[in-house]
Amino acid sequence: MTTQFHPHASNLERKVVVLTGGALGVGSCIVRQLHAAGAHVFFGDVLDQPGQALERELSSDDAKVKFVHCDVTLYADNLALFDAAYTACGRIDHAIANAGLGEQGNMFDPNLTLESVREEPKKSMSIVNVNLKGPLYFSRIASAYLKQPDMNGKGGTAAADKSLTLVSSVAGFREDPGLYVYIASKHGVLGLMRSLRGTLIQSQPYPIRTNAICPWMTRTRLVAGIDEVWAKAGLPSNEPEDVARVIVGVLADGKVNGGTLYVEGGRAWNVEEGILKTRHQWLGEKQEKDLDRGTQLMGGGEHWIENKSSQV
Ligand SMILES: NC(=O)c1ccc[n+]([C@@H]2O[C@H](COP(=O)([O-])OP(=O)(O)OC[C@H]3O[C@@H](n4cnc5c(N)ncnc54)[C@H](O)[C@@H]3O)[C@@H](O)[C@H]2O)c1
Repeated sequence: MTTQFHPHASNLERKVVVLTGGALGVGSCIVRQLHAAGAHVFFGDVLDQPGQALERELSSDDAKVKFVHCDVTLYADNLALFDAAYTACGRIDHAIANAGLGEQGNMFDPNLTLESVREEPKKSMSIVNVNLKGPLYFSRIASAYLKQPDMNGKGGTAAADKSLTLVSSVAGFREDPGLYVYIASKHGVLGLMRSLRGTLIQSQPYPIRTNAICPWMTRTRLVAGIDEVWAKAGLPSNEPEDVARVIVGVLADGKVNGGTLYVEGGRAWNVEEGILKTRHQWLGEKQEKDLDRGTQLMGGGEHWIENKSSQV
């Protein structure tokens, strides 16, 4: 039902790529792999020291690798990241929202009392800002920059393939105990991909493909401590390079749109295909048809935008 995705890194030479969270973990592997494939890479992060060190290590005359300080929770920082790439290269081909934070604090502590519940859960809510507000800002800006014609008027290798890739998680479609806000935010990222895949692909003059990546256990600092228990139990895990290879593969693929790439043990499957193909089974045939008719009726979504009665 669900087909395995076999990534490759061809066709990326001279492509211009913007990504967030590129200083460490999966993001730094994406930067390295794109650089090795000959792409120009502009990566943002809040961690200046490892970001600058990666830029120094990879910089060469042939392909640009540029670190830009970027806190994804700030709209202006996201804009500055896109501006840096657009000003230097005259176009942007691919954008990857990768930055993410693991669970902070304990939003639904079972020991909450009427007294402790009065304290606003600011630490927990910072995850929503990084994991969901960040990708929303990033995607909005990407939707404008990716469709711009080449400022230098050079068609060259910048053919029309454009893509936006959102890093969600296995927590984007199922649950694990204790990850309350992380799971809610990563479900949100999958929702964002689904809300954009039908509209951004109609962008003119360049259609923009939108996909989500859902890795399971990946050996970065995000899972420090848990990875050992995992290995002892004999469960599959990814190296950050594996996840990066799938993300780079989605860029290079040139075709996949609206996919949810589940990554486990270094392999990937587009699980969205299975979800869509079996809808009549888990929804019921009539419900599926009615839902489709309702979606068609909504056209390009202008009814919602024109509906002022529920706007504040
Ligand atoms: N490691 C896993 O098991 C796993 C599983 C599923 C999904 N993911 C997702 O993969 C992505 C990469 O995570 P990772 O495992 O490489 O973790 P990581 O902590 O190694 O890397 C995350 C990067 O994001 C950056 N970052 C954090 N907050 C930021 C902000 N406000 N602005 C800009 N950058 C910020 C960090 O500085 C870091 O460089 C995240 O979205 C994460 O949720 C990871």
